[in-house]
Amino acid sequence: MTEWQKSNWRSKPRVQMPDYTDPAALAQVEAQLSKYPPLVFAGEARRLKQHLGAAGRGEAFLLQGGDCAESFDQFSADAIRDTFKVMLQMAMVLTYGAKVPVIKVGRMAGQFAKPRSAPTEVVDGVELPSYRGDIINELAFTPEARVPDPKKMLQAYTQAAATLNLLRAFSTGGFADMSRVHSWTLGFTNEQDEQKYSEIADRIQDTIDFMAAAGITADTTHEFSTVEFYTSHEALLLEYEEALTRLDSTSGNWLAGSGHMLWIGDRTRQPDGAHVEFCRGVLNPIGLKCGPTTTAEDLKVLMSKLNPENEEGRLTLIARFGAGKVAEHLPRLIKAVNEEGAKVTWVCDPMHGNTIKSATGYKTRPFDAVLREVREFFGVHQAEGTIPGGVHFEMTGLDVTECTGGVRAVTEENLSDRYHTACDPRLNASQSLELAFLVAEELTNLRRNRAKRAAG
Ligand code: PEP
Ligand code: CO
Repeated sequence: MTEWQKSNWRSKPRVQMPDYTDPAALAQVEAQLSKYPPLVFAGEARRLKQHLGAAGRGEAFLLQGGDCAESFDQFSADAIRDTFKVMLQMAMVLTYGAKVPVIKVGRMAGQFAKPRSAPTEVVDGVELPSYRGDIINELAFTPEARVPDPKKMLQAYTQAAATLNLLRAFSTGGFADMSRVHSWTLGFTNEQDEQKYSEIADRIQDTIDFMAAAGITADTTHEFSTVEFYTSHEALLLEYEEALTRLDSTSGNWLAGSGHMLWIGDRTRQPDGAHVEFCRGVLNPIGLKCGPTTTAEDLKVLMSKLNPENEEGRLTLIARFGAGKVAEHLPRLIKAVNEEGAKVTWVCDPMHGNTIKSATGYKTRPFDAVLREVREFFGVHQAEGTIPGGVHFEMTGLDVTECTGGVRAVTEENLSDRYHTACDPRLNASQSLELAFLVAEELTNLRRNRAKRAAG
């Protein structure tokens, strides 16, 4: 293969990307973005890669979550804080079940561009180009709003920088201090899980008090007072990605400076396509969505292109088959991975295979289907002797009504109450915490089964 260049993707077939109508305006934005600082540092991406490698070995567990699409309109400190809070809560619950470190990765600070199932949308007989995320065009159903505008990349960069700045402040500025474990609760989770969380928080607080008495405090122990929180998004809009790609002077490798982890979507994973070409050359950890149409042959080619040196933590396979379909597809892909001796981290996205249209006309996801897919994912790994390395959710800390079900049940009739997503339906804070408890149960069972087997 010839030496990788950050612009090589331009000579490959591309899908799901906008056709900008004004090349001069596009070039100007790209030139400007190329001069801006990267949002992340290569050392951070390498560190995340090590953590993901540990998740692949069962020594850590990934919690990846956030909006389907970040939006310019709904950008607010409170929304970022609440999603961060609920992820900290979920991470505590999962750590408690798994007894391994939980790696926290937001679909945040860059998750703006969306692949769509159709290039156009028809409303009342009027056909317009589809909305492709705020970094590309606008949600409003008018011809002007749907024209792709390259200047939106600058606004996305600014919002991503401000979001990451706040996340870094929350992570290290005292907010995430473990002795504040009680303060991360949100007013609108359900009573049952609040009670369970409160019990875990009490035990954590006891442990902290005990250790403080023994002289180990947040002042002496960095791990108590800060968290590592990473960012991720789908590497879809390659002009944006290329413009933020920088040479890492310490290693001589290329870093995608737009976020710590990038993933390739289920619609853009063509082995000879532009998105794979771009991602193969950057040093960041890469996620690859695997859906029902992923063939074993394609997966083998993709693994050798994206991780030719078989580096641990480099490649995360994000399975998104849909409830009822995991047993049909996951074993054949696990077999392909095993045949290659490939090192991968297996993660479950129980969202994208479970989207339906409600009788009331909303795109939704039933909580039960989401949960069922997670359980099937754990079940297959248990049967195959492979390792479930994490979960990937579309979720928010806000009290929205976008997915149906949960103990604080959202019904199809309720969906219209607070349906705010710019794209796919998200789990709300209550549903997210509930799911964390159910995943923690799976992890506890897994741990016990392993211990039993080890004991012979
Ligand atoms: C997404 O993660 O928002 C997405 C579009 O997923 P997929 O590529 O798996 O459909
Ligand atoms: Co989505």
